[in-house]
Amino acid sequence: MQEKTQVNKIIYLDAAATYQKSDAVIQKMADFLHNDYANAGRGVCERAVKVDDMIAQARRDVAKFIGATDRQVVFVNGTTDAMNMIAQMLKQKNVRTVAVSDLDHHSARLPVENIGAMVVVCPLDDKYNIDVENIPNADVLLITAMSNVIGVPQDVRAIISNAKKQNPDVITVVDAAQYVVHNQIDVTEWGCDFLCWSGHKIGADTGVGVMFIKNPDDFNPVEFGGGMVLRVDENSSVWNTAPDKFEAGTLPLTQIIGLPVAIDALKKNRPDHNLIKYMYAELSKIDGVRIITQPDAAMVSFVVDGMHALDFGALVGVRGLCVRVGNMCASWICKKLGIDGCVRISIGGYNTMADAQAAIQIIKDVIK
Ligand code: ALA
Repeated sequence: MQEKTQVNKIIYLDAAATYQKSDAVIQKMADFLHNDYANAGRGVCERAVKVDDMIAQARRDVAKFIGATDRQVVFVNGTTDAMNMIAQMLKQKNVRTVAVSDLDHHSARLPVENIGAMVVVCPLDDKYNIDVENIPNADVLLITAMSNVIGVPQDVRAIISNAKKQNPDVITVVDAAQYVVHNQIDVTEWGCDFLCWSGHKIGADTGVGVMFIKNPDDFNPVEFGGGMVLRVDENSSVWNTAPDKFEAGTLPLTQIIGLPVAIDALKKNRPDHNLIKYMYAELSKIDGVRIITQPDAAMVSFVVDGMHALDFGALVGVRGLCVRVGNMCASWICKKLGIDGCVRISIGGYNTMADAQAAIQIIKDVIK
């Protein structure tokens, strides 16, 4: 069953930027705000205890979704927040080298590039996948599990396994912000040390994200405040155990409570890649369109000869088509591709073949 499709006759094909919200998620958050709202971890009244239980259940649901235990799941504001926290934790460990790749999003690579460690870049193969056989030796390896421009799932398990052959102690950090929409994650099978993603990319609200930490007791908090401290003495403090020690301040309660509903909806109704295949085939027939993604990618990205991506975005936009245009906050892969930006079509589980057909018609009208 399709849940929700167009927004006021808009053809919304920009799920990779942010996913539309199902009625079930909106209803769950509204019910919470209307009927159960209170802070978590702060009270002992019946209402507060109920919210504690709801947050604990959401944490268990998220843990199950990614193959973790609930102690390993930290609620954050989103992938950017998680990556900045992870970078600060790595800094505390005095890591000397970090390996990144040109698939990375600014929000993943910029934080780890700015902790004072030497940066090495993983080579990509001729299809712009991380070259599994040539993983550099580094203290930290950042893996973008799916580029938000190229849209191909990387072989994270093999990348981590080969990285460990170079350095058994390598700390692996997975940015799963796009991957999580299209593929099942199993952190236990992958053996990663950190992994993060944002709720809003899978149909939950903005302001909530997930940071998985394999060994939470090995890392110290980098944000401080209420809820994360067990005891405060005159000159020192004792932190709570994980995950609380990483969750300073009031959590995004409403968004967390909506998250398991979004997970359920996603599991039942992942984006239909046949729509992408159809649009890839149709776009390949249009003169002046140069597609930069593979036919089996989870999204289709392209440039239009003689037209800036921003102009193209505005022209299709006034005709009711929402797509992302620009460098996608992924400058490195754009540079590698020799472009300064592109147009990206991405889909949610709510999109239909009718959306794909309408989009192609609008694109043809603009390029004719
Ligand atoms: N990172 C998001 C995107 O790719 C915003 O559109």
